[in-house]
Amino acid sequence: MTSTPYGELTQRGNSTNIVWHHSTVTRAARAHQRGHRSAILWFTGLSGAGKSTLANAVNSALFEQGMACYVLDGDNVRHGLCNDLGFSDADREENIRRIGEVAKLFVDAGVVALTAFVSPFKADRDRVRALVEPGDFIEIHCAADLATCEQRDAKGLYAKARAGEIKEFTGISSPYEAPENPELRVDTGGQSLEACVEQVLAYLELQAIIPQTS
Ligand code: ADX
Repeated sequence: MTSTPYGELTQRGNSTNIVWHHSTVTRAARAHQRGHRSAILWFTGLSGAGKSTLANAVNSALFEQGMACYVLDGDNVRHGLCNDLGFSDADREENIRRIGEVAKLFVDAGVVALTAFVSPFKADRDRVRALVEPGDFIEIHCAADLATCEQRDAKGLYAKARAGEIKEFTGISSPYEAPENPELRVDTGGQSLEACVEQVLAYLELQAIIPQTS
């Protein structure tokens, strides 16, 4: 162990001789200034289940109320930060690990981070949960079933997967492990978008992450 004026030198993975720098502006100070807490709203579900749509609509509602919020969307993140990753189990694991770390930074920055990733594996989601404090990770299962998602097939990907043109497609040729005990399960297959948004906002109010509106 080597001491520095900032703290002990340490190692994380292949990163050696690093030290944690503490910010003078704390998460608590940010929450106090902004009037709301931060958290990760982790939307998970099949492709086409409505994760991005719901996350975007909740984000808009929070923004309208003046809150700091941001959507990290699987398709978008794969345009840049994660464009070196494919859809093997290992690549999905790394995708979720990176997003978990990014979302954790957002929480520290006092921002409500809404993530919309298929995130099919329970272990990967649980690792993200373990990264943050209890209560900071809110798992939201967008529970539209496979038949509904396949019927919608907004991007035409299910048809391609059935035809064997896309390998390892979630729900068809790659598994989806539904959350057993999510903080919220939203019926994105049957309920209106407005009803789903209300369900999420009501939960955030109940947990005192955002102030009561009524
Ligand atoms: S995850 O499994 O690693 O969480 P992510 O949410 O980033 O996936 O990306 C899923 C999106 O990539 C889908 O909405 C779909 O548009 C696209 N996609 C392309 N190939 C696949 C595949 N094999 N399985 C699932 N989604 C795929």
